[in-house]
Amino acid sequence: MMKFPALRSRRLRENAVLRKLVSETHLGLQHLVMPYFVREGKELRTPIRALPGLYQFSISGLLKDVGELVRSGVHSILLFGVPSEKDSLARSAYSSKGIVQKAVRALKKEFPNLLVITDVCLCAYMDHGHCGIVHNGRVLNDPSLKLLAKIAVSHADAGADVVAPSDMMDGRVAAIRKALDANQFSDIPILSYAAKYTSSFYGPFREAAGSSPKFSDRKGYQMNYANRQEAMKEIAMDIEEGADMVMIKPALAYLDVIHEASERFSVPIAAYNVSGEYAMVSASEGLHLFPERDMVLEILTAIRRAGADFIISYHTRQLAEWKIM
Ligand code: PBG
Repeated sequence: MMKFPALRSRRLRENAVLRKLVSETHLGLQHLVMPYFVREGKELRTPIRALPGLYQFSISGLLKDVGELVRSGVHSILLFGVPSEKDSLARSAYSSKGIVQKAVRALKKEFPNLLVITDVCLCAYMDHGHCGIVHNGRVLNDPSLKLLAKIAVSHADAGADVVAPSDMMDGRVAAIRKALDANQFSDIPILSYAAKYTSSFYGPFREAAGSSPKFSDRKGYQMNYANRQEAMKEIAMDIEEGADMVMIKPALAYLDVIHEASERFSVPIAAYNVSGEYAMVSASEGLHLFPERDMVLEILTAIRRAGADFIISYHTRQLAEWKIM
């Protein structure tokens, strides 16, 4: 290798065109997915206290907001339901008249080309707030699979383009794949939340989705954040069970995991820039110490640089509006 003064790194940093020409990582709106919370009701647009600038929408409001999103150049969303009823079998999660099912039908009718990914989980629909069936204070794995598979089929039946299980039960990808295939949905891909860690960064989301566990925590099924090798095992298991794409979640404190997964596996890797990560950026805005736009670009570019093919981020809508990409 040449040495200074023959070699000067700064030559390629001289101007913006040159810097862009040799940029190793690209971030575009095609790499971003915007999460949405949909609830029952008419013309509702309820601000989410923990996520400034974001709302729970009833279906009409959702259609309006998604319309603006699509016009600004974003074509993928991840949908979460905020149901009006909860019970011990999460019935509203797989009902054809459930809030997500109704919203997906309305979305696909108005925006046939919009990519609608649905979150497949039980927590927001269970009266106890856990991601599986609870018996004697324990979250049961195998009986929960049947319900998760039912949710996935009901979402596909409503027109969802991709289903994304986030529950962290073992064997759910295989159960969902089998159920989809048995119901003529063999073309619907599964994006599995393969490496989902127990994280304090989900706090704002749980307020938005009303999905906090009523007792104990999720440490019995979500991963321990101290573990990296285990994430590789989880991802390998999900791919073997039929996951078409895998997700690592959260993103910012887990860039090492994203990086290793992208080196090891050939399926597309998604990263979830979660609610707490968004909330931190929003909170820092009030300090007037950080240029928000630059910070958002830096965060999302870093997640791409680590190896994520695409990113689920609450910043997506504002980023598209800023028209800087
Ligand atoms: C449901 C689910 C959660 C998130 C996505 N799907 C919350 C949780 O596991 O408690 C978190 C998303 C975010 O924080 O933005 N299981």
